[in-house]
Amino acid sequence: MTVIAKPAAPRESRPAAGPPAVDVRGLTKRYGRGTVVDNLSITVPAGVVAGFVGPNGAGKTTTLRMLLGLVRPSAGEGAVLGEPLRHPAKYLPRVGALIEGPALYPTLSGRRNLTSLAVLAGQDPASADGILERVGLAGRGDDAFRTYSLGMKQRLAIGAALLSDPELLVLDEPTNGLDPAGIRQMRDLVRSLADAPGRDGARARARARTVLVSSHLLAEVEQICDWIIVLDRGRLAYQGPTEGFMTSATSRVALRPEDPAALGMLADLVAGLGLPGDRIGDRLLVELDRTARVSGAVTAAAETTAAAAAIAGVSRAAHARGITLVEISWQRASLEERYQGLVEGQPADPARSATATTATAATATAMASRVGGLR
Ligand SMILES: Nc1ncnc2c1ncn2[C@@H]1O[C@H](COP(=O)(O)OP(=O)(O)OP(=O)(O)O)[C@@H](O)[C@H]1O
Ligand SMILES: [Mg+2]
Repeated sequence: MTVIAKPAAPRESRPAAGPPAVDVRGLTKRYGRGTVVDNLSITVPAGVVAGFVGPNGAGKTTTLRMLLGLVRPSAGEGAVLGEPLRHPAKYLPRVGALIEGPALYPTLSGRRNLTSLAVLAGQDPASADGILERVGLAGRGDDAFRTYSLGMKQRLAIGAALLSDPELLVLDEPTNGLDPAGIRQMRDLVRSLADAPGRDGARARARARTVLVSSHLLAEVEQICDWIIVLDRGRLAYQGPTEGFMTSATSRVALRPEDPAALGMLADLVAGLGLPGDRIGDRLLVELDRTARVSGAVTAAAETTAAAAAIAGVSRAAHARGITLVEISWQRASLEERYQGLVEGQPADPARSATATTATAATATAMASRVGGLR
C-alpha cells in the first residue's frame, strides 16, 4: 500500500463549487506493446463521491497511480485540484490516498501509527484522536495494529490518509476482502468523508471534499456515489451522475389508463406514434428505444431526454382522445445490468430483468431533466 499523507497547504475555505477535482484528457499508459489505459478523458466534479468501476484488469489502479504521480503517464494532460497533472508535487499536499491495502506498523497501536505518521509529515499529532473517532476506531486506538480486523486496518489506513485533511481522497478498492459487515462500515465511512466537515468542525464546508473510490462492486457504487466512471479494458465506457447511469437504461414505460376499456385505443394511439407497445394486463408497455444500443461512451442526457419527450407526446395524445393515464411507470434497469451492458457489450434486457419504478409524468420529466451525463 501507499499512503500519501503530506502536510496540507493552508486554506481558509474550500468551496464545493469551483474547478473539477480531476480533469484529465487523453490519459494513456503503455507497458511494452500493451496499452493498459487508453486515451482516457475523465472529469470528477469537486465535492462528489465518485465511483471508479470496472472489471479486474480494466486499468483502475493504473489510472489512480497516474493521478497520484506514482506512475508516469505515457500520454495525457490535465489537472488535479486545478494544478497540472504533470506536476504532482503541486497538488499532492492536498490529496490523501489509499492504494492497495494497509501497511502500517503492526506492533504500534492505531493511535501511535497515526501520531507517528503525523509527526513524520509535519502535521499535528493531536488530530489522531479525532481521526480515530472519524473512522470508527475510537474504542480501539490503544490496541496494536496487528490485532485489528482487515476492515479496521483498512479504516485506519484511511485515517492515515485523512491526516492532511485532504481536498481529494483517493481510495483504491477499500472494500476488497471485507465481509458484508465490514463493507457496510466502509460504505458508511466513505459516504461520510464527503459529507462531514473537516476535523476543525467549526468550518462549515459540507461536501467540499471529493472522494474518488474504485470498486468492482457495482452495488457499493450505486449506494454511495453521486458520480460514476466506468472503465472497460482501459477505455472509458461511461461517466456522469450515478442517477443518469441508471435512468439512461430506461427503455420501457408502462402506461395504465384510468378506464381499462381504453387500453385498446391507447395501444392504437401509441402504434400510430410509431412506438412499439405490448399489452400486459391492464397496462401497455411502450418500448422507447429498441434500437439505441449501448456501446462505448454514452450520453445519459440525450437518451433520457428523448425518452421523456416520447412519453410526453403519448401523454398529450392520450389526453386529446379523452384517455386519462393514471400511471406512467418507468422500467429502470439496475446499475448492474447497465454495467454488464457496457463492459460486456451486452445491452441490458429490460424485458428479462428490469425493475419497475413508478413515477408520475412530472417526476419522470424531472428525472430526465436532472440527468446531465458526459460523453
Ligand atoms: N507494471 C506493470 N507492467 C505491466 N503491466 C501492468 C503493470 N501494471 C499493471 N499492468 C497491467 O495493466 C492492466 C491493468 O491493471 P490495473 O491493476 O490497473 O487494473 P485494475 O482495474 O486495477 O484491476 P483490479 O480490479 O484487478 O485491481 C492489467 O492487465 C495489468 O496486468
Ligand atoms: Mg486495481
